[in-house]
Amino acid sequence: MTRIVVVGSINMDLVTQAPRFVGPGETILGERFLTVPGGKGANQAVAAARLGAEVALVGATGDDAFGQQLRQGLAAENIDLTHTIQLDDCASGTASITVAGGENQIIVVPAANARVTPAQVEQAQALITRADAVLVQMEIPLETVEATLRLGHRLGVPVILNPAPAQKLPIEWLQLARYVTPNQHELAILLGADPDEDFHALMQRSPGPVVLTRGAEGAWYREQGEPIHQHGFNVAVVDSTGAGDTFNAALAVFLREGLSIAVRKACAAAALSVGKLGAQAGMPTLHEVEALLAQQPG
Ligand code: RIB
Ligand code: NA
Repeated sequence: MTRIVVVGSINMDLVTQAPRFVGPGETILGERFLTVPGGKGANQAVAAARLGAEVALVGATGDDAFGQQLRQGLAAENIDLTHTIQLDDCASGTASITVAGGENQIIVVPAANARVTPAQVEQAQALITRADAVLVQMEIPLETVEATLRLGHRLGVPVILNPAPAQKLPIEWLQLARYVTPNQHELAILLGADPDEDFHALMQRSPGPVVLTRGAEGAWYREQGEPIHQHGFNVAVVDSTGAGDTFNAALAVFLREGLSIAVRKACAAAALSVGKLGAQAGMPTLHEVEALLAQQPG
């Protein structure tokens, strides 16, 4: 069985589906409201578990109603929460999300996620040593992201760094990751470059291996210096929240099969995830990914 450790955030997503986005000072009527589990770390953990991996999550929740619900949801997906702490003087992380026309706007309040520590990562060393891959994103303190990259590097366990939400990082950190998985905007911010710069040029300038996500257009990566495009899969978009998380999880789970197969399966899994409202609602099983690949080969 593939073993994955995720170091990352756990949020309750407060999702409003609306006919369009609002402007400052404006009130409109929405169509639907949902309270559903999210957070990039938790999403990646759930996606990896649905794809058949044995998953442990290093994170934090508050000791509030959202925290209880979030932990129950993760436990129901068979995710090991031994290294997810519960803080009694802190709220759980939240994300206020508006979904309109398949696109989203998100405001994250980290709360407990801001207190995921490097010490927790070190305490998970025994799990990380045995892992096939480690996933980390940037909704937790950067010192904890750094500790994860350094520990993985030291132990020879591949770490996939999903640099979201976008932030500039020390260039050296990018070399500690096995793969960095930004979108175009995130890559520009990471490198301190102009966000409108061509992504091919940005990828060439990046100091470590990049797998660049392009939404419906799939993904780009390099093999022996050559840029390679994996096309996206055709699906009806309801809510793209969590598509990036599904991509990252699948990349980690299938990495042992080689980069090109892993990216292809990651694009298929991400495509399946956008069909339902809520980050985790559409995350596919291995069987569903294989069915899509059989139906839309290439
Ligand atoms: O990547 C999607 C996630 O980002 C949402 O679930 C929300 O919680 C935000 O963290
Ligand atoms: Na979804």
